[in-house]
Amino acid sequence: MKTIIITGGAGFIGSHVVRLFVNKYPDYRIINVDKLTYAGNLANLKDIEDRPNYRFVKADICDFDAIYALMQEEKVDGIIHLAAESHVDRSIKDPFTFARTNVMGTLSLLQAAKLYWESLPEKYEGKRFYHISTDEVYGALEMTHPEGITPPYSTKASGAHHEAYGDKFFTEDLKYQPHSPYSAAKASSDHFVRAFHDTYGMPTIVTNCSNNYGPYQFPEKLIPLFINNIRHRKPLPVYGKGENVRDWLYVEDHARAIDLIFHKGKVAETYNIGGFNEWKNIDIIKVLGWEPSLQFEEGIERTVRWYLDNQEWMDNVTSGDYQKYYEDMYKGR
Ligand SMILES: NC(=O)c1ccc[n+]([C@@H]2O[C@H](COP(=O)([O-])OP(=O)(O)OC[C@H]3O[C@@H](n4cnc5c(N)ncnc54)[C@H](O)[C@@H]3O)[C@@H](O)[C@H]2O)c1
Repeated sequence: MKTIIITGGAGFIGSHVVRLFVNKYPDYRIINVDKLTYAGNLANLKDIEDRPNYRFVKADICDFDAIYALMQEEKVDGIIHLAAESHVDRSIKDPFTFARTNVMGTLSLLQAAKLYWESLPEKYEGKRFYHISTDEVYGALEMTHPEGITPPYSTKASGAHHEAYGDKFFTEDLKYQPHSPYSAAKASSDHFVRAFHDTYGMPTIVTNCSNNYGPYQFPEKLIPLFINNIRHRKPLPVYGKGENVRDWLYVEDHARAIDLIFHKGKVAETYNIGGFNEWKNIDIIKVLGWEPSLQFEEGIERTVRWYLDNQEWMDNVTSGDYQKYYEDMYKGR
């Protein structure tokens, strides 16, 4: 039996990872550690919150004492670390919070894991620290169509994508060139994770993935924001000419990749996970047998449908009512 802490499990991607692990591994103990910032919403996990192999702990990853005590109490074997401040626009307004959570919070987790695992007779044997990061640490994808046309986010398309925009993909050996306080803080946390492997021998893995979309995403991010604005007949805010190139990854595909890499990934390895072909050089598909199950057209259709079918969720989040959920659910537990 494995005991795993998943940090940020009440957030967008984290809730999908928690759900997948709780459902798929009834023998594991899954501990969701989340501070419940504005981005954390326990209603995302309503369907699994009463499972015997699931526990929610409200804690700040920067609180070293709390995390260290939890690791000892639960005899934690693995950490899947998703907790972060994740919204670029917010990082431009308030970079300190991003440095605190993304850098110091990651360091606090690493140090707690190090002290606990090194105290065990087996030390790092069978242990794993898996850090989820972003491809934004590599800077922007500079792919522009020769005629200035906004690239299609489509393809059965990966082939066509290659042809039209050349062979420019993020690869894991690219230079780190973060441009926003968000990506600078994530880049810094990636370096700390690698340093804990190189310095102490901690079994770490880092993945840098592209933009996720799908159910349960907080409606300040592009796709749910657009869906919500369209519902309320509000204007759609687009940066510049709207020609930024982004690679989109359906969140459940990302959760599947995280499951695979957590179990089969090579220690000290960095994997890039993208919706198209950006993992080209590292051959995730060939090496680990993962590929995205959804093309963008199908994924976006499924996503729009989910938001339209779950208007109560959206109204709850946009009105701020979801923040009372913790009080109602966990008061007195
Ligand atoms: N969303 C994307 O497209 C994307 C792409 C690449 C990488 N990532 C990375 O994946 C991870 C999850 O992203 P997301 O979109 O689900 O983010 P999110 O903002 O939806 O969720 C973040 C979660 O972390 C929690 N949290 C924040 N600060 C905390 C703290 N100090 N202590 C404990 N919990 C805290 C929040 O309450 C929230 O539940 C992040 O590390 C992000 O950098 C996201």
